[in-house]
Amino acid sequence: MKKILILIFIFIFSNAFSQIPEYKNGVVSSAQELASQVGIEILKNGGNAIDAAVGVGFALAVVYPQAGNIGGGGFMVIHFPNGMNTSIDYREKAPLLANKNMYLDNAGNVIEDLSTLGHLAAGVPGSVAGMLYALDKYGTLSRADVLKYAISYAENGFIINARFASALNENSKEFNKFNGSSKLFGHHYKAGDLFIQKELANTLKTIRDNGKDGFYKGWVADLIVTEMKNGNGIISYNDLENYNAVERDVVKGTYRGYEIISMGPPASGGICLIYLLNILENYNLKDYGFGSVENVHLMTEAMRRVFADRSEFMGDADFVNVPMESLISKKYALKQMWNYDTKFATNSKDVKPGDPYYKEHDHTTHYSVADKFGNLVSTTTTLNDNFGSKVVVDGAGFLLNDEMDDFSSKPGVPNMFGLLGSEANSISPGKRMLSSMTPTIITKDNQPFLVLGSPGGGKIISSVLETIVNIIDYGFVLRTAIELPRFHHQWYPDVLQVEENMMLKMNYRELKNMGYDIKQVSEFGRIDAIMFLPNGSMTGYSDSRGYGKAIGY
Ligand code: GLY
Repeated sequence: MKKILILIFIFIFSNAFSQIPEYKNGVVSSAQELASQVGIEILKNGGNAIDAAVGVGFALAVVYPQAGNIGGGGFMVIHFPNGMNTSIDYREKAPLLANKNMYLDNAGNVIEDLSTLGHLAAGVPGSVAGMLYALDKYGTLSRADVLKYAISYAENGFIINARFASALNENSKEFNKFNGSSKLFGHHYKAGDLFIQKELANTLKTIRDNGKDGFYKGWVADLIVTEMKNGNGIISYNDLENYNAVERDVVKGTYRGYEIISMGPPASGGICLIYLLNILENYNLKDYGFGSVENVHLMTEAMRRVFADRSEFMGDADFVNVPMESLISKKYALKQMWNYDTKFATNSKDVKPGDPYYKEHDHTTHYSVADKFGNLVSTTTTLNDNFGSKVVVDGAGFLLNDEMDDFSSKPGVPNMFGLLGSEANSISPGKRMLSSMTPTIITKDNQPFLVLGSPGGGKIISSVLETIVNIIDYGFVLRTAIELPRFHHQWYPDVLQVEENMMLKMNYRELKNMGYDIKQVSEFGRIDAIMFLPNGSMTGYSDSRGYGKAIGY
């Protein structure tokens, strides 16, 4: 009884103090306030949500180079006012000279850091191709109109904040290993400094003037290939010329009457999210209460099973057969919980072996955009690790990704997020590496309801899932749903990973007695979301775990 009263109090208290402004015309929520402001300016100037999303994407490459990028890749999910949906895949590809064993030594062991740091870690970048594809096909403004903000921030600089300064300083040792990176980032920074990126401004100008060819051909391509030659990398002219973004069907599911629209392979996020929601739909979460043993146990057991299947079956569907229909079917979800015991934690070892491995990273970034016409855009983009491979293309002023680490370098050996993979996600020339990115849009009766996504490696999936459950099942308002503490399980390591505040909210002892190995980890996930209210207005919120901002008008 006491516990129920406490939960009711948390619910009323947190919802009452979490109201956020409502807007009629548009909202942009991203990891950096300046980038959100760019999106709003574009909307105010008559652009639609796609124009704004592309403007935000290029702006993030300048003002949030930890993860915003033109040297990485991403996914964009779009919902149109007529009810149609589409998605654009601009995930990086393995270079044509890549091979399955490229990160192994002669004894067959994975060579430390080779897939995460330096030139060999980079996949062929996709962001420029993807964003320009979206702009050409679904935008209404010119390249000049959407790129001018990013160019201006690169050319004239922007004032850096304390969080960005310390992110740069923390990585200076690694930046100083590479010429271009050392020139651009390898100094000591403090809040209030003006950060100017002239070379990046020139690169953005040539993209503005020449479109995709401005990046994948001409002097920028020359600089990328020269950078590769100087650093023993393998991206070639051939790789750059042949890179294309691909428009793909979205993956769709339902959850308690809401339509879930998300990204399919090579992103695992959409499939995993729908699979998880299909499992949860069979239980009355509302009765359990946020943070209850029943809630944490059920959701963890669901995650354990979904991540096991992720490791076995998921990869680039252009190369391997991903049994998508089964994985997102309600029947399959029900079947996979056959051995769920309400009293005890399952042991992941009973399913498949693996190695515990931890390393917390800050990386990917998500942004959500909605306009007054009813277009919704949910985009997650990444360099993989914080500042990617740490290699700046000398003379062109942008960072290259270290996305090759998202492949499975060797079965049974985890990647930097501790995720395991199998043949389905092994390296092959031209193949896209599996991603956990989960850019998602939710509608109800075909009306917009929620646009959201997050960074966080494998934890992207649980951050998005828990935000949805907090809203749909527990009725929390957007801000509370995002701010509530999170937990995560990914099959291997067989550990329930929880944020500090979650540790306080849940019954640690009871879960331990059920067989859980529980580890407190640093905060994870940074949701940037937009929610539509019953009165037709919209509201946005940027997770306080980051330093972004939702802006509307
Ligand atoms: N690089 C993180 C992901 O795509 O999952």
